[in-house]
Amino acid sequence: MTMKTAKLLINGEWLTENRETVSVFNPYNGEIVGEQVMATEQDTENALQAAVEAKKETADIPAHKRADILNKAASLLEERKEEFAKLLSSELGKTLKNIRGEVARSLETLQLSAEEAKRLTGETLPGDTSPRGEKANASTYKVPVGVVAAITPFNAPLNLMVHKVGPAFAGGNVVILKPAPQTPLIADAFVELLIEAGYPKNALQVVYGGIEVGQKIVEDSRTNLVSFTGGIKGGSDISKRAGMKKVLLELGGNAGTIVHQDADIERASTLSAQTGFSNSGQSCISVQRIYVHNSVLEDFKEKVAAKVKGLKTGDPVDPATDVGTLVDENAADRVKSWIDEAEGKGAEILTGGGLNKASLEPTVIFNPPKEAKVVCEEVFGPVISIIPYEDVDKALAEVNDSDTGLQAGIFSNSLSVIQKASRVLDVGGVVVNGTSNFRLDHWPYGGVKNSGIGREGPRYAVEEMTETKMIVYLDS
Ligand code: SIN
Repeated sequence: MTMKTAKLLINGEWLTENRETVSVFNPYNGEIVGEQVMATEQDTENALQAAVEAKKETADIPAHKRADILNKAASLLEERKEEFAKLLSSELGKTLKNIRGEVARSLETLQLSAEEAKRLTGETLPGDTSPRGEKANASTYKVPVGVVAAITPFNAPLNLMVHKVGPAFAGGNVVILKPAPQTPLIADAFVELLIEAGYPKNALQVVYGGIEVGQKIVEDSRTNLVSFTGGIKGGSDISKRAGMKKVLLELGGNAGTIVHQDADIERASTLSAQTGFSNSGQSCISVQRIYVHNSVLEDFKEKVAAKVKGLKTGDPVDPATDVGTLVDENAADRVKSWIDEAEGKGAEILTGGGLNKASLEPTVIFNPPKEAKVVCEEVFGPVISIIPYEDVDKALAEVNDSDTGLQAGIFSNSLSVIQKASRVLDVGGVVVNGTSNFRLDHWPYGGVKNSGIGREGPRYAVEEMTETKMIVYLDS
């Protein structure tokens, strides 16, 4: 693979010269696979200024043209899906299997965004429902918020970037994109593809850099809305710095799933072994805490442990590999120390726990105490914990005993248990007969408590990224 450079795109120009560059490493073998050009303070300032100047021109692009551009980008992605998958695997260590899925989803998210560009409608509001409005009428329109700052994460870097740029452009906004520093190469490939699809260059400013770049675009008054996916700490900092701007936050969680006594254990164990370890557990909804009824505990433990042992680890670009690396060695070391902490506190390791650089064996922990980090914090790694329960109300309370609430799952064949769980679980989405880790891209996605603010999914994101403007007609 040729070395790729992730370039700045500011005011319609690709910029690479006379700036610091940072190498990008393959986390599986340590090889350098590319570099990213870091934005200077002046670059970020120029990006903000160019964004504000491109607002009117971008808002004036007709909806059908915005839709065509997004659909064209989807067609180009279809043509290049294998190239994109290999590139992403090389900088993230995500398996080709998982990445092929992500690329297919990204394509769909682009198409969904294109559809939403054509659905920006308003309504007519008669005034005569009020005695003061007998001769009045009003119409509402959706208008762009203006400049959207899109700060995107490394874990599903392509699809989560599309989830911001797609709806923002569908809504007629200019975007300042700050991709995750760990995955700049896929961002660069995607931005090039957008431009080739006809996306106006000045409607998209792209800046790479550290926290200071993000802070400047979040704080600056020329930004109208911040859309961030990432950790809770980062999200909380953004919400403080953003002042009066609109903020969309899609943050993490320590997702819980309940396996009740009447569950299909074969299904529950298969899905737990798949969805706790896809992308090495680096997903905000990765199933992390699995509460299992005592009557099915031994069967579930045995089946899950066997299935997890059967997962193939190794080179992420090998199409047979199920579990690749974590994003880097630091992440793997942190997760390993959490496994050790749980074991030190009396938990049993049913399988896994071995560490080799950024690769951590898929790990199943039995009965860690409540205060162990693998239970009460977000692991973001290939680790699940099985925790027994006797009373389903207590299990529901345990799932809710978290300062986050993104998604949760419940396996049961009892309608009353399912209905109770759907009512009681304090999360953005409850998955019935699945784990917390299931998402379709057109559905509303987001959490309650510290898991975030607002919902993604093109229809919902476009709603957030536009304002309702009202025109009042008075009959003189
Ligand atoms: C996330 O980590 O929030 C993304 C999960 C997904 O889109 O499947």
